[in-house]
Amino acid sequence: MLVVLMGPPGAGKGTQAERVTKEFNLLHISTGDILRGAVKEETPLGKEAKEYMDRGALVPDEVIINIMKERLAKPDCVAGVLLDGFPRTVEQAEALENVLKDLHLNIDAVINVDVSPDELLDRLTGRRVCRSCGSTYHMKFNPPRVRNICDHCSGELYQRSDDTVDTVKERLEVYGKQTLPLIEYYQRKNLYHAVDGARPIDEVFEDIATHLKEGKG
Ligand code: AP5
Ligand code: MG
Repeated sequence: MLVVLMGPPGAGKGTQAERVTKEFNLLHISTGDILRGAVKEETPLGKEAKEYMDRGALVPDEVIINIMKERLAKPDCVAGVLLDGFPRTVEQAEALENVLKDLHLNIDAVINVDVSPDELLDRLTGRRVCRSCGSTYHMKFNPPRVRNICDHCSGELYQRSDDTVDTVKERLEVYGKQTLPLIEYYQRKNLYHAVDGARPIDEVFEDIATHLKEGKG
């Protein structure tokens, strides 16, 4: 199974991806996580990407497309993949189609987690992420059992450097201009399914799971 999980910044892609990949035994591939890993390691890619990420802009298409071409060709993708945060432009979507054609794979579903901009600002500025295992929390909506400590691995929680008010506003604007056109793109291909993401995390998950089970059956 190959699933594309879309949605604006803070919609809950990462949160839902944790659950969906466990339930459906899929590999979670997040371009944001790959880029943050490169920034942390201070690789040439990380140095280039950081400039874009810190101001809320998208990393250039050709850079992302090359990363994903390599990533999707790895053997661990065979069992099934959930793509989180890719594609994010029409150019990336077209490139993905070509990569998948070469690998004899198809997209099974595109799920868009839909949330209004006002709520997204609250979600992103209150988000905390585990430094060790990457689990995502929210200070108000999804707090860890012990303040600033990950429930799963006891790692330390931190705030992403792009979760400041100004950068979040820029990310939302960039989403509207560059990623929103993808909705129509996938509607035309009959792959698109919207989920109301403004509900409790478990309810959003149930909705996604039901859709994927129906799609499979
Ligand atoms: P990326 O890391 O993908 O960031 P994003 O798309 O902005 O999305 P987020 O990860 O911020 O949000 P999310 O939807 O995963 O929400 P989460 O589950 O954490 O990308 C970062 C940057 O990398 C980009 O800006 C760009 O520069 C670059 N990049 C990445 N991919 C790229 C690409 N393909 N092309 C070009 N550049 C690329 O949830 C958010 C918060 O809300 C959490 O605190 C969570 O606990 C809480 N929450 C979740 N669900 C709920 C709920 N139902 N109710 C209440 N709270 C909830
Ligand atoms: Mg995420």
